Amino acid sequence: MIEDKQAWGSRVGLVLAMAGNAVGLGNFLRFPVQAIQNGGGAFMIPYLVCFLLMGLPLLFVEWSSGRFGGKFGHHSTPFILDVMDKRKFWKYIGVFGIFTNVAVAAYYCYLESWTLSWIWHSISGSFVGQSQEQVATFFGNYVSLNSIEPIIFWIICLALNTWILSKGLSGGVEKASKIGMPLLILFGAFLAYKAITLKAGELGAINDGTVGLNFLWTPDFSSIWSAKTWLAAAGQIFFTLSLGMGSIHCYASYIKKKDDVALNAMSAGWMNEFVEIVLGSAILIPIAVGYLGVDKVMEMTKSGGLGLGFQTLPFLFQQWGGMLAIAAGVAWFGLLFFAGITSSLAMGTPVIGFLQDEFGWEQRNSALAFGKIVFLLGLPTVLFFNYGVFDEYDYWAGTVSLVVFALFEIILFSWVFGMKKGWKEITDGADIKVPNIFKFIIKYIAPAFLLAVFVGSLPGIWEQLTNVALYKEIAETTDVSAIEHLKTKMLFVNISRIGLLVLWLAIA
Ligand code: PHE
Repeated sequence: MIEDKQAWGSRVGLVLAMAGNAVGLGNFLRFPVQAIQNGGGAFMIPYLVCFLLMGLPLLFVEWSSGRFGGKFGHHSTPFILDVMDKRKFWKYIGVFGIFTNVAVAAYYCYLESWTLSWIWHSISGSFVGQSQEQVATFFGNYVSLNSIEPIIFWIICLALNTWILSKGLSGGVEKASKIGMPLLILFGAFLAYKAITLKAGELGAINDGTVGLNFLWTPDFSSIWSAKTWLAAAGQIFFTLSLGMGSIHCYASYIKKKDDVALNAMSAGWMNEFVEIVLGSAILIPIAVGYLGVDKVMEMTKSGGLGLGFQTLPFLFQQWGGMLAIAAGVAWFGLLFFAGITSSLAMGTPVIGFLQDEFGWEQRNSALAFGKIVFLLGLPTVLFFNYGVFDEYDYWAGTVSLVVFALFEIILFSWVFGMKKGWKEITDGADIKVPNIFKFIIKYIAPAFLLAVFVGSLPGIWEQLTNVALYKEIAETTDVSAIEHLKTKMLFVNISRIGLLVLWLAIA
C-alpha cells in the first residue's frame, strides 16, 4: 500500500470540490441552450431518464474505480484502469481520461477568461446605454482579437488556475470550492429571483419571467421518438456531470480506502442537478424569453449559444438600470467564473496526478506544466476562434471522446473487473444502502444505453468528419469572400483534428 502525499481535508470539502467539478459553464450556458434547441419540455423527459439510467450508474462506477486505483497509488485513468485488469488494452483506453481533460481545458479556459473580462466591463460600465447591436459588436470585436485584451484576460485566467493547482488538493482546489460554490449559489439565487419575478410590460419586457420557465417545464412527449433529442440529452448529462472525462476518478482516488463513495457520489451528483435544473433553468431562459419571446430565442440559439450569455444578457441587464444592472452583471459573470474555475481545476488535477505518479514531478512543476500545455493547445482556439477551432475541440473532446471512454469503462467495470467485485467497491464503507436494482442497471441497462447512444451518434460523427455542413454552406453561398472564409475555416478545422489526434498519441 502506498501512502498518498495528497488528501482531502474534510468530507464537506470533498463533496464541494466534486460538485464544483461537475457544476460548470455547462450548467448555465450549455444546458439552457440544449433545452431550447430541443423544444423545452420535450427535452426534459429524455434528460431525466438519461440522468437516472446512465448518469447515476456511471457516477458510482467512476467514484469507486477511482478509490480503487487510489489504493495502488494511482490518480490518473490509464493507471487506474490498468489495475482493474491485466490486459494492456485498458491502459490505452485510460489515455482518453487525460486527453479529454487537456483538450477540454484548452478551450474551456478561454471561455472562462471571458467571464473575468465581462465582470470587469460590467463594473466599469462598458455596456451602459448600448443598443443590442452595440453589445453584439463588442462581442464580435472581442473574439476577433481587435485588441490585446482577450489575450491578457486569458493569461490571467491560466495563471490563476496554475497558482491554485500548485497549492495542492486541500490547500488549493478544496479551498477554491469552499469559497466558490456558496457564492455561486448566492449569485444564482439572486438572479433567479429577479428572472422569475420579471413582469411583462415593465422595463421593456414583453413576457412574464414564468413564460420561459413554463416552456421548459411543461412536459411534451412528442420528442421521445426523436433520436436527436436523446443524443442531445445524453451528451448534456455527460458534460454536466463530468462523466467519461477521468476527472471524477482522479478526485475519488484521493479518498481514504475505507471512506464512503456511494453517498458522496449521490450528494455531489444531485447537487449538480439542483444547480442545473433549478438555477440553470431559472436565469438565462426566463430573462431571454421575457424580453424576446420563445421564437426569437430559438432562432438566436441556432448558431450556438454563447451569444445569449455574453451578448443578450448584458444588454438586458442594462434595462434594469444603474446599480441593479451592475449587480446583475457581476452576479451573472461572477457565477459563471466560479462555475468555470472549479471545473477547470478538476481538469488540471488528473494531469498533475499523472505527472507526479509516473514521472515523480513536484506539485508546483506539474501545475506549471499543465498551465503551459493548456496555453499551447489553447492558443489556436483563441487565435482562430472565428474559424471554428473552438467548436471543433468541443465536438471531439467535449462530446465524442466522453462517450467512447464511458462505454469502455463501464464494460471493464461490470464485465471484466466483474460486477461482484464492482458491487463490493461501490458498497464498501458506504453510508447509504445502495438499492440492489443498481446492480442490474450497471451491468445491463447502462452499457446497453451507452452502446445505443454511441451507435446512434455514428452518422453524426461521420457527417462531422466529412464536413458535410461546411460543404453545404459553401455550395449555398454566393459571396466570394464568404466562400474564402469558409474554405479557410475548413482548413483550420481539419488541422485542429490532426492536432487532437497527435495529442492523444503523444499521451499514449
Ligand atoms: N462538468 C463541467 C461543466 O458542466 C465540465 C467539465 C468537464 C468539468 C471536464 C470537469 C472536467 O461545465
